[in-house]
Amino acid sequence: MKKVITYGTFDLFHVGHLNILKRAKALGDYLVVAVSSDQFNKIKGKKCAIPDYERVAIVEAIKYVDEVILENSWEQKIEDIKTHHIDTFVMGNDWEGKFDNLKEYCDVVYLPRTDGISTTQIKQELKLK
Ligand code: CTP
Repeated sequence: MKKVITYGTFDLFHVGHLNILKRAKALGDYLVVAVSSDQFNKIKGKKCAIPDYERVAIVEAIKYVDEVILENSWEQKIEDIKTHHIDTFVMGNDWEGKFDNLKEYCDVVYLPRTDGISTTQIKQELKLK
């Protein structure tokens, strides 16, 4: 069985999120998604509209997703890859090249982002209304 992992905040879940999860799953048989915890977002200086337990519940309900874990630190990726016996690590190409160090442990794939949508953009548009 081929196992894939991807990471993200998934705040205000949108079709760009759905597309990357669908394409990540298509690269294997079992998809693990690591959702950034509120505590980790604080470290990153990021503030979410939706709390982590609700973002986890939403991502868990997506049919392409087999398992959800929390992301609590930048450093946990290698440990996650080993613990979950991951074959392929996937990120959107806004992260192109940033995780090439993980190639020592598994395949690393950067998928093109869906054009014209992001959580940041949705938040800005809502502010204008
Ligand atoms: N993603 C994507 N296409 C988009 C938006 C996000 O493929 N239009 C991917 C990202 O590349 C990442 C995953 O979805 O691999 C989770 O991204 P996240 O940062 O949670 O979403 P964004 O909408 O990019 O949020 P923000 O604007 O806060 O960065």
